Amino acid sequence: MPDRTRPVRIDDVIAVKAIEDSCFPSPWDMDVFVTLASSEGCITLSRGKQVSMQVIENNGSVAGYIIWEDCPDTSEGRVLNIAVGKNLQRRGFGRSLLQHVFDSLVERGIKTAALEVREGNLAAHRFYERMGMEELGRVPNYYDDEDAIIYSITL
Ligand SMILES: CC(C)(COP(=O)(O)OP(=O)(O)OC[C@H]1O[C@@H](n2cnc3c(N)ncnc32)[C@H](O)[C@@H]1OP(=O)(O)O)[C@@H](O)C(=O)NCCC(=O)NCCS
Repeated sequence: MPDRTRPVRIDDVIAVKAIEDSCFPSPWDMDVFVTLASSEGCITLSRGKQVSMQVIENNGSVAGYIIWEDCPDTSEGRVLNIAVGKNLQRRGFGRSLLQHVFDSLVERGIKTAALEVREGNLAAHRFYERMGMEELGRVPNYYDDEDAIIYSITL
């Protein structure tokens, strides 16, 4: 069973970046993770909007992470990034991370969560569907080379 979810720290960033590079064709830059880790995993933007990052540990090492934003103005949350180390997938870490975000959004009074996923990332489609999310639409060429499918859930 997964251990625990907590805010990202600066000493997590190398492990996070290694997972990011192994999971995505166009990985995010290190800077994003450093910025969030330097802010105790939460940055507040204008109008109360927050961007947050949590990691989940397995035996003291980073197993995965999730980054999301919430916007109290529109009562919407958006998952921006989620990944679990390849050798630790299908052990419930992704579920714990996403459930943590759903719970956090509800605590902040947020009513819906949405995200974009590559059309061809069928494993992620199955994962989001298993988490109760539903396909809402498509954004053509969102990733330059591929359409995005939008998933959404009412919390
Ligand atoms: C998507 C991802 C985060 C899921 O994390 P995970 O820890 O492997 O997922 P979990 O073990 O919590 O899976 C929960 C359920 O989702 C479904 N699921 C997860 N991965 C699946 C897969 N590869 N194929 C089919 N169903 C899958 C299953 O129903 C699973 O429950 P089960 O194992 O009891 O059958 C992980 O596969 C990953 O990091 N992928 C690479 C990065 C990525 O694509 N991120 C999403 C970008 S939008």
